[in-house]
Amino acid sequence: MKSIVVSMIVAAGLMTAGSAMAVDMPAVALKNKCNTCHKVDMKLVGPAWKDVAAKYKGVAGAEATLSAKVKKGGAGVWGTMPMPPNPTVSDADMKELIGFVMGLK
Ligand code: HEC
Repeated sequence: MKSIVVSMIVAAGLMTAGSAMAVDMPAVALKNKCNTCHKVDMKLVGPAWKDVAAKYKGVAGAEATLSAKVKKGGAGVWGTMPMPPNPTVSDADMKELIGFVMGLK
């Protein structure tokens, strides 16, 4: 019995460690369905958000450019696959989303 309890604690500890390492999509990204095409650290339909952060690091005005791009959609930066427009994302959500993306390392 004691060993079962111990192994359960170990398993729970491993699970917590795993989720602390992988950066999950924030709630605002799930709400706006960005997660259907993007992941934080892996290319899906669109580029990994980590790669986006690296590409625009230190670029003046990147937040404004990216906010407009996400809203209007577009292609050609990461490949031929276009991102469709996301006109329903509120300004507040957009600020949070782009802030999250640009905050990744
Ligand atoms: C249907 C798939 C799809 C959805 C949904 C989607 N994206 Fe994209 N996204 C893409 C693709 C494809 C690209 C690459 C476009 C390119 O190469 O110019 C991209 C590119 C981007 C970029 C980089 C733009 C650039 O010019 O470098 C950002 C930032 C981004 N997406 C954020 C978002 C956010 C935030 C949302 C949710 C509101 C979202 N995406 C929803 C497919 C998607």
